[in-house]
Amino acid sequence: MIKPDAVQNGHIGGILDMICKAGFRIVALKQTRLSAEKAGEFYAVHKERPFYGELVEFMSSGHLVAAILEKDNAVEDFRNLIGATNPANAAEGTIRKKYAESIGHNAVHGSDSDENAQIEGDFFFSGLEKF
Ligand code: GTP
Ligand code: MG
Repeated sequence: MIKPDAVQNGHIGGILDMICKAGFRIVALKQTRLSAEKAGEFYAVHKERPFYGELVEFMSSGHLVAAILEKDNAVEDFRNLIGATNPANAAEGTIRKKYAESIGHNAVHGSDSDENAQIEGDFFFSGLEKF
């Protein structure tokens, strides 16, 4: 996902360019919005964390871009491309180093396992979009 901060700040093109140059194939792509309820469902794993309310409010605050990406070793390689959760710790050359504002407004999301990538892809896309 390209999160609402990066969409708002005009970074969709720059982020997709970095993703494509890193060798990912875009399987599915759309700009959409999440209600607070749907954002809460997406990040349900964090519901006991102190920042959950803030996270849900932010993720439902504006448009975001959802994508399914394909590559060998995609999950690990994408997490390396996006960089650390807190942009203050993100390595040079990563998407969060370049585009994230803060730990809360950190520009992008990446799935943390193949299993969650499947679940999160199904959350946003259906049928022919996934081929
Ligand atoms: P995602 O790709 O978005 O899942 O990020 P991540 O896997 O690098 O981090 P994690 O899954 O642990 O946390 C999910 C999201 O919660 C992060 O991307 C942050 O936007 C947000 N988050 C994590 N820790 C904090 C925090 O301490 N404060 C705030 N405001 N947000 C946080
Ligand atoms: Mg995560």
